[in-house]
Amino acid sequence: MKVFRTIAELEIAPGTGLVPTMGALHDGHRALFRAARAENSRVVASLFVNPAQFDEPADLASYPRDEEADLELANAEGVDAVFAPGLDELYPPGFSTWVEPDGTGAEGAARPGHFRGVATVCLKLFNLVRPERAYFGQKDAEQISVVRRLARDLNVPVEIRVVPTVRDPDGLALSSRNVHLSPDERDRALALPRALREAVTSSDPPAAVRASLNGLEPEYIEVVDLGHAKVLAAAVRVGSTRLIDNVLLEGELT
Ligand code: PAJ
Repeated sequence: MKVFRTIAELEIAPGTGLVPTMGALHDGHRALFRAARAENSRVVASLFVNPAQFDEPADLASYPRDEEADLELANAEGVDAVFAPGLDELYPPGFSTWVEPDGTGAEGAARPGHFRGVATVCLKLFNLVRPERAYFGQKDAEQISVVRRLARDLNVPVEIRVVPTVRDPDGLALSSRNVHLSPDERDRALALPRALREAVTSSDPPAAVRASLNGLEPEYIEVVDLGHAKVLAAAVRVGSTRLIDNVLLEGELT
């Protein structure tokens, strides 16, 4: 597996699948690598904690980082190349051009500037790696809709592929931020996937979630329309950790 630190070293090849990540890789990322491996002759993963998408300085400062373990996991999943640039490589002095997605939903409203950072770095990665396909997790539902619109609106020739959310056996969606949960917080966090799962068959899913969060404070509960699919999404805070999750309401994720 090659590891590229600079844009100059990057190689462009047909049949490439790109998996953008911020590292601290877990089995959710692993599922993306596997999906990419199955559909592409070459798999490139990016590892870059993108400061531009963090709306809270404390969240950026405490974001988990373990490059050695990340490279090992990527290598074990057959990733051909990892692009792990330094900050100045993607945001050199004088950087001043941003992609500003309009019409983001509750997640965008809750995190001002977040999707501008996501859209900007994803467009840069698409331009640098020129993938035929790029892989994103269902867990970040609104991110999928932002990236799909970005590709369509700015005519980026990339197919956006969606991989279902990977969960721990007890239902908690895997997230790099889960390491911040104490055992007690982790227990309380389980109310989120449970409430979402149980609300799917309700006549008013958001109200059903609100009624069964077991004391967790929702930041929002909303139905996100992804085009071919609708998901029921929610964000909660458990202690100082912010968690998001969603479940499929109708349609199919592709
Ligand atoms: P990150 O949080 O590292 O996630 C990278 C990709 O893994 C995203 O597409 C995310 O949806 C997916 N993912 C995370 N947890 C998952 C899970 N439990 N099951 C399935 N997929 C999961 O999302 C980002 O990074 C950044 O915003 C990024 C797209 C890299 C841009 O900086």
